[in-house]
This record gives sequence, C-alpha cells and structure tokens, in this order.
Amino acid sequence: MYDNVNAKGLLHAIKPALSVSIMSADFLNLGKAIISLEESGVKLLHIDVMDGNFCPSLTIGPSVIKQLKTSMMLDVHLMIQEPLNTLDQYIDAGAGMITIQYESTMHSHKTLQTIKERNPNIIRGISLNPGTSYTVTEPLLDEVDMIVLLAVNPGWNGQKFIAATKSKYESIKKLIKEKGKDILTVIDGGVTLENFEQISALKADIVVSGSAVFKGGDINRNVQIMIDALKKISTQTRNK
Ligand code: DX5
Ligand code: ZN
Repeated sequence: MYDNVNAKGLLHAIKPALSVSIMSADFLNLGKAIISLEESGVKLLHIDVMDGNFCPSLTIGPSVIKQLKTSMMLDVHLMIQEPLNTLDQYIDAGAGMITIQYESTMHSHKTLQTIKERNPNIIRGISLNPGTSYTVTEPLLDEVDMIVLLAVNPGWNGQKFIAATKSKYESIKKLIKEKGKDILTVIDGGVTLENFEQISALKADIVVSGSAVFKGGDINRNVQIMIDALKKISTQTRNK
C-alpha cells in the first residue's frame, strides 16, 4: 500500500497515465488479463464496482477485489448507492484510489472525509455523471485528490464518448487552476483507439479505457498504442 504522499507522488510521476477498466476483461481469466496488463506497463487497474442500483449493471465487489494480486494500484470506482455504508469493505480490500459518484449520496463531503479518516493514504476522487454540472465539485475541492469526468452514462462499457465532456473538462481544469488546488483530472469511458489521440490532447492526468484495451485480444498492442499517445502528449507539454 502506498501512503498518500507517495500515492499522489506516483500519480504525478506517471501522469498522463492509462488506467485500464477490467469491466471488459474475460472474468473467467482475470488473473491472465492482469498479468498481460502488468507486462504491458499499465500502472493503474480501474475497477468499476456497480451495484445494479446506482446504475443498472452489477459487477464485482470487495470479496473479488481482495483476491486481485497485482502490482498495479487499485483504482476503485464506486458506482454504488450510498457508498458510505460499505466503504470499509473497499478500504480493507486494498483500494489505493477510491472514487465515489457525486450523485450516489446526499453526503459526498462526509463520505470523502470518512475515507481520509479511515485511511489517509487512499487517493480520493469524486466522479460526475455526464448530466451533472462541474460546479458541484467546488465545495469538495479540499476533500479530493482527483475529479473524474464520466464521458459515458454509468452502467455499460463500450459506449460512445459524449462530446460535451470536453467543454466540461476545460471548465474543471480552469476551476482547479483558479483555486490553486493539487487535484488530478480523469476522463473515464468511451475512450477507444480511434479517439484516443483527440482525447489525450485534452491533457487529463489519467485516462480510463476498458473495452478498447481488450478488443481484438491483443492487450499489449492496444495498451502500447495508448501509452505511446500519452507519452507524445507529455513530451509536447514538456517542450512547450
Ligand atoms: C462507466 C465506467 C467506465 C467504463 C469504461 O460505465 O465507469 O470505467 O467501464 O469502459 P469503456 O472504456 O468500455 O467505456
Ligand atoms: Zn469507471
């Protein structure tokens, strides 16, 4: 387990980073998929936890997460109603990053505070549905390390990237800069090999992709294309 400074330091060191959502992996061969991702240089494993209540799908929970043996940081995305009620199970399961959905509770601030109280080493994120304004994050800026923009409606993988995410992303970047906060930005959902260059040009710190990584079966090839595109952006940014 990384401590928060290390964890945040790691994310700053590896940004722009690819976080791969295992929602699209072959669940009967999850261990194999994880090894392929590690060998391809993926550092963040995005785990979409869905409870069939916050959003229609039901995926995996803490008992499966606990069994995931990997060197990748567990980037747990809780798309569950009232995450405060089961938070401890995800903390105990080894989450290095926990992102809650703003829309999943009346108590987003309290839930984020509780993550810090229970384990200050965990990276905390707030995620917004496509229909939620970026302005809701303002009162939470002192309680998050990451702001995640869902570029698809939660619940299904393989959906089309919602174009309005781009302007929302620019607004979030501006807000973080204006407030002088050290908050990482994340774009999650609908990111494919075809639109990857265009999306990585937004310069989010973390890009989440799932179905596009596992599509066609050549995980290593798909990951390399994405990581190379991120490296290109990072070099361009440094050379500016
Ligand atoms: C929304 C999830 C995303 C999704 C990404 O349902 O939060 O992480 O699984 O999968 P793709 O890349 O297939 O859209
Ligand atoms: Zn996700």
